[in-house]
Amino acid sequence: MGTMEGLEVTECERCPALVDCRSRIVSGVGPADADLLFVGEAPGQNEDEQGEPFVGRSGSVLDEQLRERGVERADVRITNCVRCRPPENRDPTGEELENCREYLDAEVERVDPDVVVTLGKVPSEHLLDRDVAVTKEAGSVETVDLGGERRDVLVCVHPAATLYDRSQADTFANALDTAATMAGVESDAGQSQLGDF
Ligand code: URA
Repeated sequence: MGTMEGLEVTECERCPALVDCRSRIVSGVGPADADLLFVGEAPGQNEDEQGEPFVGRSGSVLDEQLRERGVERADVRITNCVRCRPPENRDPTGEELENCREYLDAEVERVDPDVVVTLGKVPSEHLLDRDVAVTKEAGSVETVDLGGERRDVLVCVHPAATLYDRSQADTFANALDTAATMAGVESDAGQSQLGDF
């Protein structure tokens, strides 16, 4: 059985393949009352080593794009659907996603964000519970049952996609503009205007 202390998962052995592969459980980071919650797929190597979501190249893209909108990484909450690194960076299985869902639901319920932004196909399909063409649907918002309430989920491409395809960079930036607008942030570069954003 897993245990969660506050927002941190401290112990879990639900997924044998992930228990074998991981160095540690990677819980979400950021304020427990953030207005904006980003949800990725699963930790990669950097995240597994450092114990924090989105700290590799994808994380740099995310941080930079947030900053361009006057938002600091420390002002938002960032988490993953699955909290342990899958072997060879494969996608998490349906069973692994389900095993970890309880933690994600508890986190969403506790943080109670204005908007949940799904970074890439796996989190988008997991939270919307349907097939999602992320590039086509990026920037669209759907209201779903999540963490005990109806919540707005904004589909976004994975930040890593922007590293390989410039057109995805625009798609990513436009989705973040929508997220900033939904959370009530003016896109005025440089300074955080967010308070407890
Ligand atoms: N990609 C993800 O989906 N999550 C991370 O934490 C890092 C990269």
